[in-house]
Amino acid sequence: MILVTAANGNQGRLLVPKLVAAGESVRAIVRSEASAVPLHAMGATDVVVGDAADPRLLARAVDGVSAIYHVGPTLNPDERAMGFAIIDAARAAGGAHVVLSSVLHSIVTDLVQHEIKRDVEEHLLASDLEFTILQPSNYMLPLKLRPAFERGVFELSWSLDRRQSLVDLDDVTDVAVMALTDAERHAGATYELVAPGRYTAFELRDVIARVMGRPLDVREIDADTYAKAWLGDRDPADAPHQLAVLRSISARYSAHDFVGNANVLTWLLGREPTSFESFVRREWQRHTASGSSRDSTN
Ligand SMILES: NC(=O)c1ccc[n+]([C@@H]2O[C@H](COP(=O)([O-])OP(=O)(O)OC[C@H]3O[C@@H](n4cnc5c(N)ncnc54)[C@H](OP(=O)(O)O)[C@@H]3O)[C@@H](O)[C@H]2O)c1
Repeated sequence: MILVTAANGNQGRLLVPKLVAAGESVRAIVRSEASAVPLHAMGATDVVVGDAADPRLLARAVDGVSAIYHVGPTLNPDERAMGFAIIDAARAAGGAHVVLSSVLHSIVTDLVQHEIKRDVEEHLLASDLEFTILQPSNYMLPLKLRPAFERGVFELSWSLDRRQSLVDLDDVTDVAVMALTDAERHAGATYELVAPGRYTAFELRDVIARVMGRPLDVREIDADTYAKAWLGDRDPADAPHQLAVLRSISARYSAHDFVGNANVLTWLLGREPTSFESFVRREWQRHTASGSSRDSTN
């Protein structure tokens, strides 16, 4: 049995079906009952619903599992506590292999969410558990393409001139399956997961425009504007952690490039990682097939 946290998230939704297809039994942790339904449809054997920072819930969730894939949910103020708690629960239960989804350059402590992951990595290294640490670069997320597809503008919340490396979550979850199902081969490893290329916002915009076959604007938005979109109806004053994370991203990525190297991911996959252009083509095909292209011309 393999335990997957944040199981109905960006990674989990890709990973759970891949593990099931590989013949593994999956136990999933999600926060809401609503997410239990799609998880069962994906083939999860057990779904544990509750707060992944709760040690009692985790004690139940880790019981009998041979491996754990741990993802700290996006912008969650309890991310550090969750990371520490699942490692402690695994240790108390007798020692599953922990595959930790961390981040590229987790040593960069002026990024709030990197410092948290650095601390969780350190806690894992001190646990004496078998581990594999994955350090993905910025995700190629369909959500980030939506303003371009629907409103004709590509937006980033940091300097448009700074370069970033990206990675496709299909590739990240392919590596996660390897680490979870062949623990012996991947035990003790820390892998940087990065697709080829380092792009400014202008270069990303050009790729998207080429795929869409139409001109696109590019626009820098500030962290607080981005936070408001992310928080929806919530008052930003009630979300100090989320604001701190997003402001630290804007400041750091405006001051320095965030780039890596594709060698490790290429070696792990045994093929070229998915390029940004291939990702955009795939998502644009999905978008047009769903009939949404009518909106994108408005
Ligand atoms: N975005 C990037 O470019 C990037 C790059 C590198 C690393 N990362 C890191 O990747 C992580 C996020 O990965 P992701 O996008 O795959 O995850 P995600 O989509 O943010 O995960 C959402 C899932 O977490 C569950 N969840 C949220 N709060 C919970 C709680 N308190 N207890 C139990 N479950 C909870 C949600 O449950 P429900 O479905 O029930 O709501 C949902 O299933 C973050 O740590 C982020 O810093 C992101």
